[in-house]
Amino acid sequence: MNKNDGLNSAWTDSLTRNQQPDDTALLSHLRTVHQHNAGFTEMCASTCRDEEGRNSYEWLAEVVPSVNGTRVLDLACGSGPLLEILYDRNSNLQLTGVDMSPEELALAKTRLPKGVAQFFELKAQDLNVISDNSIDVVLCHWALTLMNPIGPVLDEIRRVLSTEGRFAALVDGPMSAASRYTEVHDLIYKCVQAELPSYGQVDLGDPRIRGTDSLNHLVSATFPDAEVTVKTNVVSMEGPATEVAELAAGFFYAAFTLPTEVRRTMLLELSDLLALSNLGGDSVRQARFSMPINRLLVVPSPK
Ligand SMILES: C[S@@+](CC[C@H](N)C(=O)[O-])C[C@H]1O[C@@H](n2cnc3c(N)ncnc32)[C@H](O)[C@@H]1O
Repeated sequence: MNKNDGLNSAWTDSLTRNQQPDDTALLSHLRTVHQHNAGFTEMCASTCRDEEGRNSYEWLAEVVPSVNGTRVLDLACGSGPLLEILYDRNSNLQLTGVDMSPEELALAKTRLPKGVAQFFELKAQDLNVISDNSIDVVLCHWALTLMNPIGPVLDEIRRVLSTEGRFAALVDGPMSAASRYTEVHDLIYKCVQAELPSYGQVDLGDPRIRGTDSLNHLVSATFPDAEVTVKTNVVSMEGPATEVAELAAGFFYAAFTLPTEVRRTMLLELSDLLALSNLGGDSVRQARFSMPINRLLVVPSPK
């Protein structure tokens, strides 16, 4: 990655040539982003909270029963914030973290006492070291949206889950659910499209994960005997406008492709967009950013 010119990868090269990037280009693009920005997801996601004060990791962690010995797999665990929350809630869970980014896994390993979780560098499409029926809860926080092909990922989740096991994932919610989110999205994508016009028509991952109904249909096809629900929530953060804009933009993979100067201009526009004009009298301008989130939950149907 060239810090001055934004991120270039086989994936962005395909977009420049107006071609559909293949799965290998997607993996290499994501690996490059995470190699240079390990831990970036949690900077924004752990700060944003819902009306009950929970961040999205905490909301997702609620689906794990507090029963000693419960075997939990955090799929695409990144830098490990969810595993840390789970460990703090119950140190007697059996925790496993999987990710394809060695840089993210290295961070995850440092935040938990040695030996309390096992970690594997694997692609979610092939969890070969994890046995059939060996996991009680599979969690996936903000990563299912990036995975393509998605079919083998869902098949692997089904394979490793025990008969009574459950699967829950945190993904993007409907844009209209959060105030000004569509404007934030459109501003960032407008800047990115000035450089890469087809970014947005082509995006990371399988688009079916981003729609509430399409997600439900897709997952129900792999888990026909289960109860599949998708619940929408909104998480927000407030703070100095420049910091909020930086954190919010940092959450959009698209923003990593912007050249430094374009990114700087975009951040100024974003600060203006998110500013809370009614908080006068303070020299530091305050802003608020809200994100829509969906929590997918797959549980065995009652017999
Ligand atoms: C947005 S980050 C989320 C990380 C973490 N779950 C969190 O929320 O803080 C996405 C993570 O998914 C991982 N990832 C993306 N596609 C993957 C795949 N096919 N297999 C394994 N990991 C993948 C990336 O390496 C990255 O760590």
